[in-house]
Amino acid sequence: MRLVIATNNAKKRQEIATIFSNTALIIVPTSETIHVDVLEDGDSFAANARKKAVAFAQVNGCAALADDSGLCVEALHGAPGIYSSRFAGDSCDDTANNIHLLKTMAGQENRNAYFICHICLLMPAGHRYLSAEGRSDGYILNRLDGSEGFGYDPLFFSKDLGKSFAHASAKEKASVSHRGRALRMLYSQLQESIKNSGVQ
Ligand code: IMP
Repeated sequence: MRLVIATNNAKKRQEIATIFSNTALIIVPTSETIHVDVLEDGDSFAANARKKAVAFAQVNGCAALADDSGLCVEALHGAPGIYSSRFAGDSCDDTANNIHLLKTMAGQENRNAYFICHICLLMPAGHRYLSAEGRSDGYILNRLDGSEGFGYDPLFFSKDLGKSFAHASAKEKASVSHRGRALRMLYSQLQESIKNSGVQ
C-alpha cells in the first residue's frame, strides 16, 4: 500500500520512514508528496493527527499517515502537551522551546515527563481510519545533553535507555520512543485489517 506521511518535519518523517523500512508499506517520497499546512487547532493529539491525515489523504489521493505528538510534564500538569511545538510562542523553534522549558522547570523537584504520540492512518478506500497511541517515560534534565534527534530530545532523559534521547541512535530511540511504539501498534492493526478485508 502506498502512503504519504503528513508532516513538514523532516526529522519526524525520517523517524517514521526508518520504523516502516522493513514493512510492505511504500512511502511516497517527500518530493512527490503534496504538502498541506494544517492548522493544529484540535483539543487532543488524536484530533490533530486525524485532521492532518484527512487533509493529506484528500490532496494526495492515497492513504495518509499523520502523527501528532508532544511532551507532557507532570509538574506542569501535562503542559506543553498539544502545544509542544509552540511552547515558547507562535513561530518559535526547538531551541527557543528548550530554553523556555529549562526556565519553566528551574527549581522544580518533580521532573517526571513523558512523550505521547498519536498516529492516524486514513485509507481512502472506504474512508477507514486506524489509530494508535504510544508513550515514552523519562524526566527533564537540568541542561541540554546530546545533539541527535529533534525537539526536546536534548532535555529528555529516557528511563528505558538510561540516557537522553539526543544521545540515542535512530534505532535505539525508535525501539522505545512514543512514535516507535505507536507505529508498531498501528502496523499490527494494519496487517490484521488487510488479512480480514483483502485491502492491499
Ligand atoms: P507536532 O508536529 O504538532 O506533532 O509537534 C510535535 C512537537 O512536540 C515537536 O515540535 C517537538 O517539539 C515535540 N516532540 C514530539 N515528538 C518528539 C520527539 O520524539 N522528540 C523531541 N520532541 C518531540
